[in-house]
Amino acid sequence: MPIQYQTFLATAVQAVQEAGLMALSMQNGLKQIRYKGEKDLVTEADLACDQAIRHILTGAYPGHNLVTEEAADLEHGSPFTWFVDPIDGTVNYSRGFPLWGVSVGLRDGGEMAAGAIYLPALNELYTAVKGGGAFLNGNPIKASAVSELRGAIISHGDFNVGPSEEMQLELNRKNFLARMRMAAALQRVKCLGSAVVEGAFVAAGRMEAYCMVTMKPWDVAVSGLLVTEAGGKVTRLDGSPFDVQGPDALFSNGILHEDLLAVLRLDDGG
Ligand code: IPD
Ligand code: CA
Ligand code: CA
Repeated sequence: MPIQYQTFLATAVQAVQEAGLMALSMQNGLKQIRYKGEKDLVTEADLACDQAIRHILTGAYPGHNLVTEEAADLEHGSPFTWFVDPIDGTVNYSRGFPLWGVSVGLRDGGEMAAGAIYLPALNELYTAVKGGGAFLNGNPIKASAVSELRGAIISHGDFNVGPSEEMQLELNRKNFLARMRMAAALQRVKCLGSAVVEGAFVAAGRMEAYCMVTMKPWDVAVSGLLVTEAGGKVTRLDGSPFDVQGPDALFSNGILHEDLLAVLRLDDGG
């Protein structure tokens, strides 16, 4: 592992902690909840956190590319690209649910190098560096050892997400059918409502899997690294290699990955 990756991680940690504590302090006084789409929210805290993280990253690494959810991409032709979700789980955040987080990670060429996820309401900091394992508040974490589907818990991404209303209807259908198949085979099916929380919980062994029928790079960049560094596995839903650009993803403890893909592949007759 290049030594420089630890320095990148330190910057990611600083960014998620500063933004996370700011979001927490703003949570009870939110005024400007605005709709980005018919059912997609953005709060003033999402925008303030995005700006604060951009300030830290552009100050530390002015030549790196930067992709954040709430502002335009910065493309400098660098091999290094930061992916930032300033608040993931904004609907949870805006309603006082504790399941939301801040995610900042760096890709070096084609592979994630380092990243941090901070869950301020739970006071949990998840970190990973390529090849160096995954950590929760400084302690090593491992994906779960559950080896039978009937003992497994999966969470699925939210309904009503996706680029257009038409696409959302199609994705809702895919998501619904996937959940029904999982319900028949697994112990529990959940929807925690935050991709970074769900990825972090798979890495920590709290549940066995997380299934997304659509996603953005900032939702999954750090979660993907965390889960693989914790000994789990991430692929697309058809089993092909995971790509932060999507279109979809299955995160698992690794042991159950093929079984979960087989459940997803069951014919729905539709
Ligand atoms: C969303 C959340 C949600 C997931 C969506 C994401 P946001 O991110 O992670 O749980 O189902 O696909 O877009 O909008 O809260 O940052
Ligand atoms: Ca977000
Ligand atoms: Ca997100």
